[in-house]
Amino acid sequence: MNEVIASRAPGFRPKVAVVLGSGLGGFADDVKAIATIPYGELADFPVTGVSSHAGQLVLGHVGPTPVAVLQGRAHYYERGRADEMKGAIRAMAGLGCETLLQTNAAGSLRLDMPPGSPMVISDHINFTGVNPLFGEAAGSERFVDMVDAYDPKLVEQMLSVARANNIICHDGVYIWFCGPSFETPAEIRAARTLGADAVGMSTVPETILARQAGLKVVAVSLMTNFAAGLTHDKLGHEQTLAVAREASGKVRHLLRAFLEGYG
Ligand code: HPA
Repeated sequence: MNEVIASRAPGFRPKVAVVLGSGLGGFADDVKAIATIPYGELADFPVTGVSSHAGQLVLGHVGPTPVAVLQGRAHYYERGRADEMKGAIRAMAGLGCETLLQTNAAGSLRLDMPPGSPMVISDHINFTGVNPLFGEAAGSERFVDMVDAYDPKLVEQMLSVARANNIICHDGVYIWFCGPSFETPAEIRAARTLGADAVGMSTVPETILARQAGLKVVAVSLMTNFAAGLTHDKLGHEQTLAVAREASGKVRHLLRAFLEGYG
């Protein structure tokens, strides 16, 4: 599929691959685009089933930085496959990307991190019991080191860009639940005990795949709600989208400033 990309953007070599999560697809408008390619034209790219995800690859620049923006991801809960993003992540590594920058919508486990708050992920907990590298052949690089999976320098850089732009940005641990049902209050209490700050249904498999492919990872969660049981608010995907859209300007600003000053 890299031939399709090469023919649409000859000689283009992105440095950063960006995955846009629920309600955050608008960032693609901040890219000075060279080419936009629907996932359907790219072999091994996912079919995105969540209506808020456009399902296209946007190649271009943010400031001086060449980027490949994946507008939309597929989730484990869509087909029960943890490796939905394998082809796309490997394609990004094959194009020469050195970093994967991810965004997602998440539930907050911290009362000091209300809906609308961004959080840079410092580490994750895979609570699902599945892994995108299940079935990888013996002899392949499957025993991936997950220490510093979220690149400490890039995490620090993201926090420092936030400070410089007067954006209040937290850092913390993201826990992956498989969804698509939301968590129970008991599960959220368990997650808090385990050390999680935010909960979501994505990002972790992409991080594992990216680390296997040698990409550095940095990720920003946007809190769209307090997690189950923290308040009496009703949880729902529409609420996730509405808050994500409303607060997405802050994350867009943060990503733009981060990429403008990237390496
Ligand atoms: N739980 C899981 N995923 C989510 C949530 C949540 O509370 N909010 C947004 N994505």
